[in-house]
Amino acid sequence: MSQLSTKHLIGIEHLSVQDVQLILETATQFKEIINRPIKKVPTLRDITIANLFFENSTRTRISFELAQKRLSADVINFTSSSSSVKKGETLLDTVNNILSMKVDMIVMRHSSPGAAHYLAERVQAQIVNAGDGTHEHPTQALLDAYSMQEKIGDLTGKKIAIIGDIMHSRVALSNIFCLQKLGAEVTLCGPPTLIPKDIHRLDVQVSYNIDEALKWCDVANVLRIQLERQNTKYFPSLREYALYYGVNKQRLDKLQKEIVIMHPGPINRGVELTSDVADSEHSIILEQVENGVAVRMAVMYLLANKQD
Ligand code: CP
Repeated sequence: MSQLSTKHLIGIEHLSVQDVQLILETATQFKEIINRPIKKVPTLRDITIANLFFENSTRTRISFELAQKRLSADVINFTSSSSSVKKGETLLDTVNNILSMKVDMIVMRHSSPGAAHYLAERVQAQIVNAGDGTHEHPTQALLDAYSMQEKIGDLTGKKIAIIGDIMHSRVALSNIFCLQKLGAEVTLCGPPTLIPKDIHRLDVQVSYNIDEALKWCDVANVLRIQLERQNTKYFPSLREYALYYGVNKQRLDKLQKEIVIMHPGPINRGVELTSDVADSEHSIILEQVENGVAVRMAVMYLLANKQD
């Protein structure tokens, strides 16, 4: 199979296992290309892509733009803070106006869960979800899985701990779906207040003890405490969070085993990860960012080449 089963990338949940494998295999080919002296290919020369970011982003926005430029697509960047959204224009009106300028694909980040799905139901262009509220961040999960495979091989039977603010994280949900499709076991770890009560329905294990979770896993994907999404106090203080759930060098030294540490960024240094872990030989955080370009090239290439 050389085609995706879907016209849009809204989330990992509804991708098939073959879709995920196809994206990861295609990313390997693009990674080889972007490490050549001439990094650019003409693959999307006739395609125009608009990046619509209604929420802040550093990594994802730059990574998508670089991926589009490496594929020779025409690129338009839109940030809501300097747009007519500020004058009261609706999401659909904004997008329809942009599409009337002959745009083929929309990459969108939005604070509302379901925003990408809402657009996909209403416009002709292909939609790529670059993060919708607390729902999904599919390309982050794909680049995470790619980076894990690169580091520890086939993920079948591998043990992955996702640690931190599960409740407010779109990365956690997309990672769970992606890792399970690739055959990995997933344990979620964090304070009880930051783990949704019905999460067991997703067939994951839950631990409230970080030392046990670290001892169990091959890879720890550590998530940011999303203070901007917390409208109540979920733990007494950041100092206490770091004490009970922060990944630090003392915790890793006690394990006396190989462990891979990941983080989607941006990091709250000294809270979920100390600097001596984030910058250590265990960490593949910058490899994740590097792989994001190849994975996003693969996603946009496969979507653009999808036949109806
Ligand atoms: N990982 C991630 O989505 O980072 P940004 O918010 O900087 O895009």
